[in-house]
Amino acid sequence: MKPVKVGLLGLGTVGTGVVRIVEGHQEDLASQVGSPIVIEKILVQNKNKARNIAIDSDKLTEDPWDIIRHPDIDVIIEVMGGIGLTKEYILEALSLGKHVVTANKDLMALHGPEILAKAQENRCDIMYEASVAGGIPIIRTLVEGFSSDRINKIMGIVNGTTNFILTKMSQEGASYLDVLKEAQELGYAESDPTSDVEGLDAARKMTILATIGFRANVALEDVSVQGISSVSKEDILYAKRLGYEVKLLGIAERQDDLISISVQPTMVKKTHPLASVNGVFNAVYVHGEAVGETMFYGAGAGELPTATSIVADLVAVVKNLKLGVNGMQGSLSYKEKKLKSDDQISSKYFLLLKVADRAGVLARITQVFADFEVSLESVLQQPTPSNPEAEIIIITHDANKAAIQKVLATFESLEVVHRVKSVYRVEG
Ligand code: NAP
Ligand code: HSE
Repeated sequence: MKPVKVGLLGLGTVGTGVVRIVEGHQEDLASQVGSPIVIEKILVQNKNKARNIAIDSDKLTEDPWDIIRHPDIDVIIEVMGGIGLTKEYILEALSLGKHVVTANKDLMALHGPEILAKAQENRCDIMYEASVAGGIPIIRTLVEGFSSDRINKIMGIVNGTTNFILTKMSQEGASYLDVLKEAQELGYAESDPTSDVEGLDAARKMTILATIGFRANVALEDVSVQGISSVSKEDILYAKRLGYEVKLLGIAERQDDLISISVQPTMVKKTHPLASVNGVFNAVYVHGEAVGETMFYGAGAGELPTATSIVADLVAVVKNLKLGVNGMQGSLSYKEKKLKSDDQISSKYFLLLKVADRAGVLARITQVFADFEVSLESVLQQPTPSNPEAEIIIITHDANKAAIQKVLATFESLEVVHRVKSVYRVEG
């Protein structure tokens, strides 16, 4: 049987995993697709760099066109990362009729529609399962498993680095910077971890999930983003005392045809299944109109989990090749996108305020909430060592985002409120 030849762009953490799985599972893969799969050539920046995998040096190249324009290569796997050059390579590969598998959420979140259009124009497959939640097959699940349902909520812990950091801060009282360094050493964090800790990596993944889940072209700019760099040990302690864990959640919601997408540190009730997702693990909770609640859990990053998703995409492409049905997936985003305004986005909120400790202060503060029609679920006041200052911890009932913003703006000019220490969305 004629082997299917694959070109690999990148031999870093994920590329190495792809080689290990394609070589290590060769017999199984060949049985599933009906022919051997061979990695013909691999693009790297530096051929002489020491690698932690044995590779025939003839396979390595520093010239991308050796692979993209190789006449015998049918499928390109892109695991080099980056946006500019990488997009150029992928578009060229597609226009030459090569199918593409990528793990690149940055590229797919920013240029997904253009790349998908190019693939369709050339009757090519473009698959990107590994771009969201590493080893969890969430994209295929949303596209195929939920094709019959209407999804109204997707909540995800989709960044392993931040979940690893928050878990260690919560369980071990570890410092933010120490855990970040450990995540980098373990290969979870991006080369510039700012995109992990400031929520951009999760926002890119939520752009991809919301586009597929709501069948509408969501753009990165549609996601409201806040990272974890301002989450303190104190916040985490308060959350625990009240029965919550702090998690960086991506939340995409649909009501009627209006959608909203955000990434933010969120207090998740300990009884919610997302609260017990710890370490580098990811999980995606999906609520469908007909199916109700579902949740998908697994490793969100790392060499082999990510490579598993990539090679599964490769198998799908090769099966399509055998059937002659590549590039026939149709449009995944056929609905018009309509975004909610802030007064249509509703959730519970947690607020921690540092206030003057004297008569009438609590009444003054609760009046502000009442003025903007925000109803309170619980209020706790306690003294602090810095008398006469007290801390007030408030959890609201469901309130709209615009009303909470007005409450916060009012607090800025209220003399009795010394500081709004923290504000978190609450789930569960
Ligand atoms: P990485 O370890 O930094 O590896 C990148 C590889 O690409 C290296 O082999 C590098 O060559 C090569 N490369 C980079 N730029 C190049 C260029 N301009 N020309 C030629 N070769 C180039 O990255 P990674 O962690 O494997 O991630 C790869 C992709 O997968 C990224 O899009 C990332 O977001 C995504 N992803 C990663 C994970 C994860 O757990 N790491 C999970 C899901 C998705 P040299 O080896 O010679 O330097
Ligand atoms: N930096 C990413 C994370 C890698 O921590 O989840 C997987 O996309």
